[in-house]
Amino acid sequence: MQIFRSLSILSFLFLGIIGLSSCDKPANSTTASPSSSTPSSSAALEVYKSSTCGCCQMWVEHAQANGFEPTIHNTEDLNEVKARFGIARKYQSCHTSVSSDGYIFEGHIPARLIKQFLADKPADALGLAVPGMPIGSPGMEMGDRITPYDVLLLKKDGTSSVYARVSALE
Ligand code: CU
Ligand code: CU
Repeated sequence: MQIFRSLSILSFLFLGIIGLSSCDKPANSTTASPSSSTPSSSAALEVYKSSTCGCCQMWVEHAQANGFEPTIHNTEDLNEVKARFGIARKYQSCHTSVSSDGYIFEGHIPARLIKQFLADKPADALGLAVPGMPIGSPGMEMGDRITPYDVLLLKKDGTSSVYARVSALE
């Protein structure tokens, strides 16, 4: 009679935290960038982001290069921001921008599509969103690479539809 004994038990625990990449990392800094002036034109955007998020900053520069006047609000409680503006989890990205008339622009949206939206606002719209952080979207450039992505039109009733399909670098 043979007795087989298990001498070791190996257990592997993988905690796959599929978050929002480095944008989600908390920072020690709690300072918010003061704004010297508050733009009142349709070019004004209030941008809520983490102070440590490089891709958010790159997106801000993309917006500035395309005529927007972003005012930065650094915060490490982006969940509060998403909740405040009613952005459901499936639509969330790193940063949240809000126009002067209250429309929401979530994530790495090409500036030209924000302009297009603001020039011709769809009825019952909350705003636009690019969920996640697709490679090749503005601020997420990695050489010539691009993962084609949809810019979603968010409706006030919580539904969405495809506002634009983007398959080229901006
Ligand atoms: Cu990002
Ligand atoms: Cu961002």
